[in-house]
Amino acid sequence: MGYVGLPLLRTFHAAGFKTIGFDIDPAKVDMLRSGRCYLRHLGDDFIRDMAASGRFVATCDFQRLNEPDAIVICVPTPLGRHAEPDLSFVEQTADAVARQLRPGQLVVLESTTYPGTTREVVLPILEKAAGRQPEAKTIAAAQPTALRCGVDFFLAFSPEREDPGRKSHSTQTIPKLVGGIDAESLAAAVALYEAAVQKVVAVSSAEVAESAKLLENIYRCVNIALVNEMKVLLERLGIDIWEVVDAAATKPFGFQAFYPGPGLGGHCIPIDPFYLTWKAREVGLPTRFIELAGEINQHMPDYVIQRLSGALNGHNKSVKGSRILVLGMAYKPDIDDIRESPSLELIEKLLALQAHVDYNDPHIPQIPRMRRHRLRLKSVDISPAVLAGYDCILIATHHSAYQWREIADNAQLIVDTRGVMRKVPHAPGKVVFA
Ligand SMILES: NC(=O)c1ccc[n+]([C@@H]2O[C@H](COP(=O)([O-])OP(=O)(O)OC[C@H]3O[C@@H](n4cnc5c(N)ncnc54)[C@H](O)[C@@H]3O)[C@@H](O)[C@H]2O)c1
Repeated sequence: MGYVGLPLLRTFHAAGFKTIGFDIDPAKVDMLRSGRCYLRHLGDDFIRDMAASGRFVATCDFQRLNEPDAIVICVPTPLGRHAEPDLSFVEQTADAVARQLRPGQLVVLESTTYPGTTREVVLPILEKAAGRQPEAKTIAAAQPTALRCGVDFFLAFSPEREDPGRKSHSTQTIPKLVGGIDAESLAAAVALYEAAVQKVVAVSSAEVAESAKLLENIYRCVNIALVNEMKVLLERLGIDIWEVVDAAATKPFGFQAFYPGPGLGGHCIPIDPFYLTWKAREVGLPTRFIELAGEINQHMPDYVIQRLSGALNGHNKSVKGSRILVLGMAYKPDIDDIRESPSLELIEKLLALQAHVDYNDPHIPQIPRMRRHRLRLKSVDISPAVLAGYDCILIATHHSAYQWREIADNAQLIVDTRGVMRKVPHAPGKVVFA
């Protein structure tokens, strides 16, 4: 019931299905039961409507996994400490499904992952451990089952293409790729999604669907790296990268605009490409584009700090001891998701240089505890006087709630990583782009 699962459940519910939202996090389940939504960009109303319909329940009780006819898995697929795929969430969920699996059920994996995961990781768990008792300690210890994929149960992969905060598309309108473990599984999965989304695109295997999702994300990662590299170069040449991208984008074919920024963020683009890198090692091949794009994008926060340091220098100040306000914690505008956000890294780097750092984000009142970051900061309210009190305002995310004119009028110095100040009148020397 996360960023992917909850909107997907809403789509199935809207299509008339009876729905059960499973999650291991009791806090999420409690909120859903009380009609509240923890993902602010989705709003609360639909949760109340779903609860009132009598066709929605939220639960942590995984014994109920034998109730649904179709089970869609949307759990995290992060990287481990050495940038290797961490499939533990997928494995645990497959294991929970396997305990309850009954004839006739369809299981679909939606988590982004390397090609082969559905067949090589999920299928053996379902086939080996199906129907086993909770006390069995390992999958190997479980009894083999008579349940066979394509005959008794069905298994497919369908990548999630959700883009939280995007107004132009919803789960219902984004075409849904589906690849089955076999022809019967594909048919069952296509039938399921066709009942809820506008367009279903069947592909010949789960591996094609898994690879297509990775290609989409790697395409973004590589193009963002390209434009970030161009940004650094064009800045040296005194050319405005944003104007260049907009100019190139007037070509009606063969070019798609990507914009530079302070680095990659979110649960997908910084992570998913490395799932393929890991898989490529299995066949002894390098993924040079992915590595290079990763290297360039990961360098961006350092570049921003270097520009900020130079900007303060121009005002006869050092980073050490300066008061800096970071605008925007979320990794992209108008959402409340800070996973992998470059703002976290920017703040940590500035603190390491002994700056005094605050942040403002209208969507994130305080920074939650995270696995890799321990920043106990709360969003400060902004006003003309507050803005004027900082040595530098660092624009990290261009939320639409920001009043750029007020910021330009009152800040002493602005470092802008999003190009928003290009169209706002400001005093000479006040804005540095990074
Ligand atoms: N967020 C996006 O924009 C997006 C877009 C496309 C694809 N994806 C992919 O979708 C997958 C899910 O991402 P997300 O952003 O929804 O993650 P998320 O962290 O928002 O949600 C995952 C949910 O799964 C729950 N969970 C963890 N282990 C579980 C288990 N064993 N059983 C049941 N629930 C469990 C967590 O409590 C959480 O609520 C990932 O593979 C991600 O790469 C995400």
